Amino acid sequence: MTNTNVSSKPMARPAPAPRGDNDSVDLRVTPLNAGFVGIVENFTLDAGMPDVQRDAIERAMDSFAVLVFRDQHLDDDKLFALGSRFGPIEDAASGTHQDRRRLAHAQINDISNLNAAGAIMAADDRHRMSSLGNLLWHSDSSFKAVPARYSMLHARVLPPVGGDTEFADMRAAWDALPNDLKDTARELRCDHSMLFSRGKIGFTDFSDDERLRCTPVPQRLVRRHRRTGRLSLFLSSHIGRIHGWQTPESLLFIQDLVEFATQPQFVCRHSWRVHDLVIWDNETTMHRGRAFDSQKYPRDLRRVTVGGLASTLDEVPA
Ligand code: OGA
Ligand code: MN
Repeated sequence: MTNTNVSSKPMARPAPAPRGDNDSVDLRVTPLNAGFVGIVENFTLDAGMPDVQRDAIERAMDSFAVLVFRDQHLDDDKLFALGSRFGPIEDAASGTHQDRRRLAHAQINDISNLNAAGAIMAADDRHRMSSLGNLLWHSDSSFKAVPARYSMLHARVLPPVGGDTEFADMRAAWDALPNDLKDTARELRCDHSMLFSRGKIGFTDFSDDERLRCTPVPQRLVRRHRRTGRLSLFLSSHIGRIHGWQTPESLLFIQDLVEFATQPQFVCRHSWRVHDLVIWDNETTMHRGRAFDSQKYPRDLRRVTVGGLASTLDEVPA
């Protein structure tokens, strides 16, 4: 496992230069050990950036998949405006988080352990229970018919220890997968729902209304990236079954794939600094939060999620 704070390879790799445009794009990306997470320093993200800069970020996202931008001073409005440069922003309220209103902005995800009054949530607060699902490997909004493209997570308040976020490269995992598993996985479709991921940590306290909002959606297990053509495993804790398979066999097979895909060579751990803005591509990566003492320390991050363009079922098959 690698740690962004102990990056040992200072080999800066510039994002490919824009073609046919005189605007210079100063986006220098330093890859971390696992190769798919890049650190960008001395770059200020701004919703008003020229298209060539936005395009350079997208190209860097295509080649890396996770980018860490240090020292970004953004409030919720600026974070939302920035995300909007990459596509339509998803609504923040997900199937099991409908009634928590700490943040004024309806499209900012509250990734914190704080309640509406700004205090640390009680141990048995059901929002806390449900958000603990973020500690399982997942891809954001894989339970939506059109799952997420980019997530952009901004750090405001951090605990003194713990609370890192890990990322896993699902393209590298696919490339390395043994051929027999590739052949089995290639055509499969899975049902995704927040009920499945929360059920895995024993949280099953859902109202009828929530169950309805969490109706499972089908997704391909192997995706082809719209921009790069690369294949990746579309794994997520939200998976509850494979179409045409018995549920226990579905979950065992998915668990085998998750174990394979989260081996140390595919994983990179990010240790947050306040004002980090991390962008990840949900189409090609999984991520999970790591534990911290959430009854003692506040941890407050804010996320905008850029929606995808189409159902994975409409993608070019693997
Ligand atoms: C998220 C998420 C993990 C973390 O914001 O989508 O899963 O470390 N976060 O907070
Ligand atoms: Mn997430």
